[in-house]
Amino acid sequence: MAPDNHDELARFGVSLEKDLLQRFDAGLEKQHYTNRSEALRDLIRQELLRQEAEKDEADVMGTITLVYDHHVRGLAEKLISLQHDFGGAVVATVHVHADHHHCVEALMVRGTGRAVRDLADRLKSVRGVKHGDLSLVMCCSEEKS
Ligand code: NI
Repeated sequence: MAPDNHDELARFGVSLEKDLLQRFDAGLEKQHYTNRSEALRDLIRQELLRQEAEKDEADVMGTITLVYDHHVRGLAEKLISLQHDFGGAVVATVHVHADHHHCVEALMVRGTGRAVRDLADRLKSVRGVKHGDLSLVMCCSEEKS
């Protein structure tokens, strides 16, 4: 097993425009960060995750959120059929009947980056889907070497 280096901190200096730093600091307060380091760590993790999830073979988990009008003919069947086409990629779903017309659905997905992105793109492009969003997390990001 690889040694755990999580507690070993490295320090580095950053030069950036005053205006950019002011805007960054203003954002920290709103997001309830107590210091810049923690905010910067989260930004770096988020960027690394984004880069990793771009890889076709990365093992990822995430959520696809859809909003659609269930009155559109054939829409619900099409969405279900697409999910079946992707085999075990959809591991759980939550469906909320938001109002008379709209359904909100959250699909927990797991698979390769390519499969999960492809599924999200296909679901989003179905006629009648008004909103589609994929949010990814790495399965075991920081433990992986
Ligand atoms: Ni519904």
